[in-house]
Amino acid sequence: MPEIIRITEVGLRDGLQNQPVAVPLQGKLTLLEALIEAGLRHVELTSFVRPDAVPQLADAAQFVEAAFHQGLTARLDDCMALVPNMKGYERAHAAGVRSVALVLAVSETLNVRNINMTLEQATVICEAVTRRAVADGVRVRVYLAAAMGCPFDGPSPPERVHALAARMIDAGADVIAVADTIGAGHPADVPALFDPLVRAYGDTRIAAHFHDTRGLGSALAWQAALSGVRQFDASIGGLGGCPFAPGASGNVATEDLAFLFEQAGFATGINLDRLPDVLDTVEGLLGVRHQGRVAPWLLSQRKKRGSRVSSTPILSS
Ligand code: COA
Ligand code: ZN
Repeated sequence: MPEIIRITEVGLRDGLQNQPVAVPLQGKLTLLEALIEAGLRHVELTSFVRPDAVPQLADAAQFVEAAFHQGLTARLDDCMALVPNMKGYERAHAAGVRSVALVLAVSETLNVRNINMTLEQATVICEAVTRRAVADGVRVRVYLAAAMGCPFDGPSPPERVHALAARMIDAGADVIAVADTIGAGHPADVPALFDPLVRAYGDTRIAAHFHDTRGLGSALAWQAALSGVRQFDASIGGLGGCPFAPGASGNVATEDLAFLFEQAGFATGINLDRLPDVLDTVEGLLGVRHQGRVAPWLLSQRKKRGSRVSSTPILSS
C-alpha cells in the first residue's frame, strides 16, 4: 500500500481572497465541484472575517450553506473555514462549519496588520477560540503564519514557532499548519523548523503551507516530506497570497504537489488527468490563466493519448 500524502486545497480561500475580482457564489460552487471531481477531499472553503476586510469572501455563510445544500460538503472528508476571532467562529459555527482554521502570525507586526491584535492578544484569542471549538466538538487547525519570515519583522526563529505550536496543542488544537505566508523559506531551513514538530506531535498533527514566491514551493514541500510531514496545503493553479502581507504570492500549485508526490510513489487520491479541467474552470471564472509548473506537461500527456481523460494513471504514460 502506498503511503498517503494529504493535500488540502486552499484555493477557494487563500486563492480567491487575493483576486482583483470577487468570484460570484455560483462560480465558487462550480470550482468546488471541479475540485471534488478531480479527487480533492480536504478543502478550505472560505473565511469568516470582516466582510469589508476581504470582500471577495463576504458571502462565506451563503457559500457554506449552498455547498451543504447541494451535497458538495458530503463528498468531502474535511471542509474547513478560516476564522480570525470569536465572532468569526460564532458565524462559522452558526453556518454549520465543523472544522475551523485559526490564524496566528508568529511575528508581532503581521498580527497587527492582519488581524489588528498584538502577538500576545492573538495568542490568547486563539487559545480561547480553540477551547470553545473543542467544547463544541469542532475540529481546529491553527495556522502559524509567517513561520519562515515576516514581511515586516524579518526572519522568524524556529523556537518561536515551536513555542506557539506547543501552546496551541495544549489548548486542544488538532493540527498545526506551519505557514510560509510570504514564501520566504529555503529548503535548508526546513529540518530545524519541522523535525522537532513532527517528532513531538506526529505527522497527523502537522501540516505545511508553502507559497511559491521564489519558485521553491515544491522544493520546500519535498524537504518537509523528508522531515516526515504528510499533510500539505496547495491551491489550484497556484492562486493565492495574503492581502495583508506584502510580497506574498500564490500558494504552491495543487498540480505541482500532486505530481511531485504521485511521481514519488505516494498516494494523494488526486486524479492528475482531471486537474487541467479545474485550471480551465479557474480561467473561466477569473478571465486569466493560472497554472503551476507541471500543467503544460500534464496537458501534453493527455493530448498524446488522444483522449481528454484517461483511466490509466499518468505515470504509466
Ligand atoms: N466577522 C465579521 N465581522 C466582524 C468579525 C468577523 N470575524 N470580527 C469583528 N467584526 C466586526 C465587529 O462586530 C465590529 O462591527 P461593528 O463596528 O459593526 O460593531 C467590527 O468588526 C470591529 O470589531 P473588532 O473586534 O474591533 O475587529 P477589528 O476591526 O479589530 O478586526 C478582524 C479584526 C480580525 C475581524 C479583521 O482584522 C479581519 O477581518 N481581518 C482579515 C484577516 C484576513 O482575512 N487575513 C487573510 C487570511 S490570513
Ligand atoms: Zn497562505
